[in-house]
Amino acid sequence: MDKIIIHGGVRLAGTVPVSGAKNAALTLLPCALLTDEPLTLRNLPRLADIDSFQHLLNQFGVSTMIAGSRPEDFGRVMTLAATRITSTVAPYELVRKMRASILVLGPMLARMGEAKVSLPGGCAIGNRPIDLHLKVLEAFGATIELAAGYVRAIAPDGGLPGGDYSFPVVSVGATENALMAAVLASGTSTLHNAAREPEIVDLCNLLVAMGAQIEGIGGSDLTIHGVHRLHGATYMVMPDRIEAGSYACAAAITGGEALLMGARIEDMAATVQALRDAGVLCEARPGGLYVAADGPIQPVTLSTAPYPGFATDMQAQLMALLCRAEGASVLTETIFENRYMHVPELNRMSAHIETKGRTAIVHGVKQLIGADVMATDLRASMSLVIAGLASSGETQVHRLYHLDRGYERLEEKLALLGADIERVGGD
Ligand code: EPZ
Repeated sequence: MDKIIIHGGVRLAGTVPVSGAKNAALTLLPCALLTDEPLTLRNLPRLADIDSFQHLLNQFGVSTMIAGSRPEDFGRVMTLAATRITSTVAPYELVRKMRASILVLGPMLARMGEAKVSLPGGCAIGNRPIDLHLKVLEAFGATIELAAGYVRAIAPDGGLPGGDYSFPVVSVGATENALMAAVLASGTSTLHNAAREPEIVDLCNLLVAMGAQIEGIGGSDLTIHGVHRLHGATYMVMPDRIEAGSYACAAAITGGEALLMGARIEDMAATVQALRDAGVLCEARPGGLYVAADGPIQPVTLSTAPYPGFATDMQAQLMALLCRAEGASVLTETIFENRYMHVPELNRMSAHIETKGRTAIVHGVKQLIGADVMATDLRASMSLVIAGLASSGETQVHRLYHLDRGYERLEEKLALLGADIERVGGD
C-alpha cells in the first residue's frame, strides 16, 4: 500500500486548482439510469470512488466513455448511456467498497420499477443506517423487502405514484435517493426537512436540465412533479467545497497563503466563517477563493451541522489547524457518532486533544512533531496530512487508499504550493 512522506515546516504559497466535487459526482453519476439518452458529465474528479461507481454502473449495462484528456489535466469528461439496462442488482462485492452505491436505489427503481442493492453496512465513522432512504421510497409507493443482506425495492405496476415525506433527521443521501425516485413518478411528491447541501442543488440542477420539474431548489421543502421521461444532458460538476476547505487549512497551518482556483465562496460560508474566526484571511478573488494566514491561529468553538451549518466533512481538517491555535478550541460532532478517529493519530504528533463523547477539546500546542501515522477514513487522513505539513521532522501517512477516495492527486496539488511531499509505494 502507498504512503505519503512529508517533511514539514515549509510555508505553503501558490495557486491550486479545485477539482469537481466528489459528493456531487457520486449523485450525478446514477442520474444516467433515469434516461436512455446519453448523459455527459464534465469536471469529474479522478478519484477511486468515481472509478468504483463507474464500474457499478457498467454492471447494470450502462456504457461509460471517457473523453481523451491529457495526463496533466485535472478532471475528466465522461459520457454515460443507459440505453438498455441488463441488471437491476447492485452486488455485495461492489457495494461494500463504496457506501454511495446505495444511490442507485432510487433511480433504478424509477427507471425499471425495481432495484436490488446490497445493504452498504457501516464504516469507520459510524453505522450509517439507510432507514430514511427506505422510508421515503415507501412513502412514494414502493414496496421494500430486506433479505439476505440485500434491500429490494419494487414499484407498483404503473410505476411509483409519488407521495409526501418529512425527514425526522436531515439526510443527504436519502434526499438524493428521494429526488431521483420522484422525478419519474406518475404524480407529485413533496419532501420536508430535506438536505440543502450544495451537492443537492447540483443534483436538482442536473435533473432539471434533463427535463425534471422541481420547485424549492436550495431549500428544505421540495416539490417534484413527476414527468413521463427524462432526456440526456451535458453538465458540469460543481467545485469541491470540502477539498477547497481542506487546502485552505493546509495553507493556513503553515503560515502560508493559497489561491483556490474554482472554489465557490458561496458554497462554503460556514467554513470561511470558521477560518476567519481562527484568524485566517479569506476573500473571494476572480476565479476563486484566496486564503492567507494573518497572524497567530485563534481558537474556535463550533458544532458541525447540516448545511448551511459547519460541514462534518470539514471537522477533522479544521481540528488539525486548531492544534496550532493560541488557546483551547471546542468542537462538537453532531452528525456521526465516531468521527474522531484522527484524534489519537494527531496526539501521536504531539497535539493535545481530549475527547468526551461527541465533544473534542483541542489545546493549541507550540510545535507538532512528525510521526508515522495511520489513515482511518477519508477526512481523518487529510487532517494528518495538514498536521504533517506544519510538523517538525518527517511524517509518514500510511493506508493512502483512504485519501485517494476523495482527494484528486493530493501530493501533486500540495507540491504546487511548495510542500515537501512524496508518495511512495510498498508500505
Ligand atoms: C453524505 O453521506 C456524504 N457522502 C458524507 O461525506 C457526509 O459526511 C454526509 O453526507 C453528511 O454531510 C456522500 O455524499 C457520498 P447523511 P450520507 O445521510 O448521505 C443518519 C465524505 O467524507 N442517517 O446525511 O451517508 C446518519 O447516520 C463523506 O465525503 C440515518 O439515521 O450522510 C448520520 O448520522 C463522509 N438514516 C446522519 O443521518 C439514514 O437512512 C447524516 O447522514 C441516513 C442517514
